[in-house]
Amino acid sequence: MVVTPTELSPAPGLVGAPQVAPGAAPLEQQATDLPDFSSAAYKDAYSRINGIVIEGEQEAHDNYLSIAQLLPQQADELARLARMEMKHKKGFAACAANLGVTADMKFASEFFTPLRENFQLALAEQKLVTCLLIQSILIEAFAIAAYHIYIPVADPFARKITEGVVQDEYTHLNYGQQWLKANLESSRSELEEANRANLPHVRRMLEQVADDASVLHMEKEDLMADFMASYQEVLSEIGFSSREIARLATAALLG
Ligand SMILES: [Fe+2]
Ligand SMILES: [Fe+2]
Repeated sequence: MVVTPTELSPAPGLVGAPQVAPGAAPLEQQATDLPDFSSAAYKDAYSRINGIVIEGEQEAHDNYLSIAQLLPQQADELARLARMEMKHKKGFAACAANLGVTADMKFASEFFTPLRENFQLALAEQKLVTCLLIQSILIEAFAIAAYHIYIPVADPFARKITEGVVQDEYTHLNYGQQWLKANLESSRSELEEANRANLPHVRRMLEQVADDASVLHMEKEDLMADFMASYQEVLSEIGFSSREIARLATAALLG
C-alpha cells in the first residue's frame, strides 16, 4: 500500500489542543522550530526551492502530455493529470508571491536538466516504461518527499496549498504504479536499466538542494528517507520482491 496523505503528521505546535505530549518540547520551543519566513536567508533559499517546485510542476505537466503520445488510448486521463500539474504550478507561484519572493527559474531549469534530457531521449525512442519511471515514479516520489517534509515547516498559506497538492501527487504515483504492475514482465528489463540510469540523479538532486532545504528546516536525511519509503513501496506494489527492491535501490549509491 502506498502511504496516504491521511497519515501525514500534523505540524508541531500549530494544531490541536494546547497539551504537550510527555517528553515533547514545550509549545514555545516547538513554535521556535518554525523558520523566520520574513528573513533574508529564508527568502534567498526559498527563491531556489520554489523555483525547483515551479519548474518541476511545469515539467510534470509537459511530461504527462508527452506520455499521452505514447499511450494515446489514455490521452484523456493523462491530460487530466497534466491539468492538475498546472494547477499546482499556479499554487506554488502564489506561495512565492505571498512571501514576496521571486523564483530562481534559471537555477531550477539547470537542476532538472539530467532527468529532463533522459526523459526527452526516452520519448524520442518511444520508451514508455522509461518515461513512466522518470516522471510517474521518480519525480512524483521526489515531489511527495519534498512536500511531505515541507508541510510541517511551511508558512500557513503555503502549507494549505501544499497539503492539497500532495494528495494529487499520490494519484500520479499510483498511475505509474498501476501501469507498470499490469505490464511488469514486458517492462522488467527496461525498468531496471532506466532505474540504474536515473536513480543516481535523484540522489544528486537531493544532495544539491540540501543546504537550501535546511534553511527551510527541511533536513536532507528526512527527504531521502521519505523518498526511499515511497519509492520502495511503489516497487513492492508493482510486484518486485524485497531482494529485487534492495538491488534496485542500491543503484542510488552506485551512479
Ligand atoms: Fe504536481
Ligand atoms: Fe504529479
